[in-house]
Amino acid sequence: MPYFIEFIDVEKSFGEMKVLDGISFGVEQGETFAILGPSGAGKTVTLTLAVGLLKPDAGRIIVDGQDITEMSERELANIRRKVQLVFQSGALFDSLTVWENVAFPLSDSGHTDADIDSKVEEYLKLVEIEDLAGLMPSELSTGMKRAVAIARALAAQPKAILYDEPTTMVDPLMSQTINKLIRKMQRQLGLTQMVVTHDIANCAEKVADHVALLDKGKFVFIGTIAELYADDHPVVKEFVEEDRIRFQKEKELA
Ligand SMILES: Nc1ncnc2c1ncn2[C@@H]1O[C@H](COP(=O)(O)OP(=O)(O)OP(=O)(O)O)[C@@H](O)[C@H]1O
Ligand SMILES: [Mg+2]
Repeated sequence: MPYFIEFIDVEKSFGEMKVLDGISFGVEQGETFAILGPSGAGKTVTLTLAVGLLKPDAGRIIVDGQDITEMSERELANIRRKVQLVFQSGALFDSLTVWENVAFPLSDSGHTDADIDSKVEEYLKLVEIEDLAGLMPSELSTGMKRAVAIARALAAQPKAILYDEPTTMVDPLMSQTINKLIRKMQRQLGLTQMVVTHDIANCAEKVADHVALLDKGKFVFIGTIAELYADDHPVVKEFVEEDRIRFQKEKELA
């Protein structure tokens, strides 16, 4: 399988602080790739680089066969339509209804009203929130906002969706719902996906074909979940163990 997104020796610093110290990975067409790491590891920075919202200091970033490293904003607009970023907050338009939020990406692309109606209905159905169409974002839970953000991402008819911490700050039941949606986008629509998360048991394990663990600007692991759990690297073992303890505590509280 060819890579849909590829990072080659990517470096990124902010002032004196080197956040990414030469990372390389490839996301195969049609797979879900998770990047794990503690807070501040550079997960969000990595997603932001993948759509050209930040430029790397060194290295190359290839998306859908095109080197985006030196692309102009105009060229990047096309990449950002193909590769949709779903933020933690959902980043919805607060003054628009759920329906209008999802319709937004369709509004300036020459679709007829009837066409927009049927597409919005289709995407709301796909993410299983048809009944929320008339609500305002302020009336939605964090998890529901994320579902709407996924529907809005679909309306851009992307080839890939990148999720920033999709299961953070939602209850275990909502985490399950979101994980199922992420899987459904891959299986049903064949989308290529990236998920960044600090959560193995509640997220990466449920959605990812491959995972990578970011530590001090470098990957200490890239492989499958089964390989992650069996890995001997001390940083990997500690991260896995902390996740296991957190998961256990959450289960006891639930
Ligand atoms: N635009 C920026 N300017 C300066 N520093 C930044 C910028 N964006 C990120 N950073 C810094 O880079 C580091 C990595 O940030 P990043 O947001 O990628 O972490 P993260 O892994 O997503 O963490 P979290 O799990 O808390 O979301 C942090 O120390 C952050 O403060
Ligand atoms: Mg982040």
